[in-house]
Amino acid sequence: MTKVAFASDHAGYGLKNFLKEYIKEKGFEPVDFGTDSEESCDYPDYAHPAATAVESGECEFGIAMCGTGNGIAMTLNKHQGIRAALCWAPELAELAKQHNNANILVLPARFVSKEEAIKIVDAYLDSKFEGGRHERRIAKIPVAGCGCK
Ligand code: RB5
Repeated sequence: MTKVAFASDHAGYGLKNFLKEYIKEKGFEPVDFGTDSEESCDYPDYAHPAATAVESGECEFGIAMCGTGNGIAMTLNKHQGIRAALCWAPELAELAKQHNNANILVLPARFVSKEEAIKIVDAYLDSKFEGGRHERRIAKIPVAGCGCK
């Protein structure tokens, strides 16, 4: 079964649990890297292990959230093999897959409803990377691939 890495802080905890159930119904296996309660915590503690699981291939892709989505996306994107995309509308999730081959979908938990979150996740799951010119561009995202000295 395809494994999906999940990570959130306290602000995303409720939405994470909801989406773990949804993803199970879609035939995926959620792997939860925390947090495991609504007690205030620090999102990097959960983002880094989830990013490592996606980078290593243990998980095929990831879904992550914090209040705004910004802090957890910033943390995930410190990993050179991660392309985490903050998406608050289905069209953004679609393009994040089509153009950026995003391997972690990030949601702003305090700014999307559960119904909106499902539409965003569906848009991400139902889209395919288009390759071509986008392949060349995403190859330049890692620091080692940018040609800078
Ligand atoms: C937590 O209050 C909040 O700062 C966090 O969830 C996130 O929005 C940070 O980027």
